Amino acid sequence: MIPRDTIQSILDAARIEEVVGDFVQLKRRGVNLLGLCPFHNEKTPSFTVSPAKGIFKCFGCGKAGNAVNFVMEHEKYSYPEALRYLASKYGIEVEEQEPSPEEKQQDTDRDSLFSLNDFARKFYVNTLFETEEGKAIGLSYFLERGFREDIIRKFQLGFSPTAWDTFTKTALQNGYSEKYLVDSGLTISKDGKHYDRFRERVMFPIHNLTGKVIGFGGRILTSDKTKPKYVNSPESEVYNKSKSLYGIWLARNSIVARDNCFLVEGYTDVISLHQSGIENVVASSGTSLTTDQIRLISKFTRNITILYDGDPAGIKASFRGIDMILEQGMNVKVVLFPDGEDPDSYARKHSSSDLEGFISTNSDDFIAFKTRLLLDETQNDPVKKAGLIHEIIHTISLIPDPIIRPLFIRECAEIMQIAEQTLMNELNKLLRKKKLKGYESESQEQIPEPVIIAPPQELAPDISDCSAQ
Ligand code: CTP
Ligand code: MN
Repeated sequence: MIPRDTIQSILDAARIEEVVGDFVQLKRRGVNLLGLCPFHNEKTPSFTVSPAKGIFKCFGCGKAGNAVNFVMEHEKYSYPEALRYLASKYGIEVEEQEPSPEEKQQDTDRDSLFSLNDFARKFYVNTLFETEEGKAIGLSYFLERGFREDIIRKFQLGFSPTAWDTFTKTALQNGYSEKYLVDSGLTISKDGKHYDRFRERVMFPIHNLTGKVIGFGGRILTSDKTKPKYVNSPESEVYNKSKSLYGIWLARNSIVARDNCFLVEGYTDVISLHQSGIENVVASSGTSLTTDQIRLISKFTRNITILYDGDPAGIKASFRGIDMILEQGMNVKVVLFPDGEDPDSYARKHSSSDLEGFISTNSDDFIAFKTRLLLDETQNDPVKKAGLIHEIIHTISLIPDPIIRPLFIRECAEIMQIAEQTLMNELNKLLRKKKLKGYESESQEQIPEPVIIAPPQELAPDISDCSAQ
């Protein structure tokens, strides 16, 4: 428990514009600040911060509150976790009082799952480094793959034992309840029996933004084609696949510093790039890229570079990724690795500087990327060439910023040797069509009730007149 007077000093120290500013790019508008709401999908800013009142309010989704509420909502923290976060941001020492038995009892499902996942992470790491089986099978696999020990430790990689229920038994012995073992997916319960989901696999813990373990991926070590290469945790109260990005907790600072985020496909790609000194990298592992994942990246940068395998599946995924990223108003570049290579295999065969060089010389914007890929097939075929142009104009039409669209039209006109005005006319036709369609679907859409997070009573801020200026 945090003493009352400490809570008060935290609340006094926390400046809303600084707290929000760590996550949202804010611009001054009169006495307030304005930015894109991190809680819902929007292209024009309606998220307002009032330094004078110490509160935020989004006029789009209705979310509002003070600095503590913001951190709770944004980082999915409990009230005490948010206070501790702010205390450390402002260098305030928190002397915790021992929680009462009732308070211990009140641990939420989320806290229990986080705690169990953390126990599992330590268990798998320990199995990897301290058991004969782990060292002989798991650790030797990683080392043979070329992963250095410091990188294995940084990513908290582990190994799950071969026996059916070693983990489940150990967790039960350590007081973890069956309910959370099953909810987390670490244990599978069938016909009254329990067994471990992950057996004889090298383990990749998956973390949230703040570095807490939310799930696991386990890679098989044999080439048994009848079994899946990866087994992953199911979704749970703490693990939402479409909103998670592998590696984001280790990447966030580097993404901000480099103002760019590399997007790769797999766990091993992220790890190998780190080993090569590239840290601004995340993977959408296990799912195809989602809008929520792009919005998570957009908290740190407006620029994404897709690094995919150059096989047909990788190319298809790049096309889809380009459109989704542009639709979010972000900038996208693409680097395709030679067919059959992914960033991991390339990084293993080349030096760090070769890898950096390869990425920078092969980064194409989406027009160059599409034309380069498609132009070979369409050479001297006017019908196919027209198809390619339509394809590119469609992608340009997804860009929300009307100032940026003509810049890409000009580039397309130059590359394709066609009059800019012709392309502009096509683009406008497409935009008009979309607008008509947009009106149709908008009128059918239900407008959701705004949600306001309720802060603890005595802290409730006055949000009645925090209006956008
Ligand atoms: N994946 C998965 N389930 C599978 C196969 C793949 O969840 N059966 C996910 C994993 O997150 C994996 C990513 O898709 O990291 C990319 O798959 P793949 O390229 O096959 O794996 P790599 O990570 O490259 O693994 P490795 O290099 O060890 O083959
Ligand atoms: Mn690979």
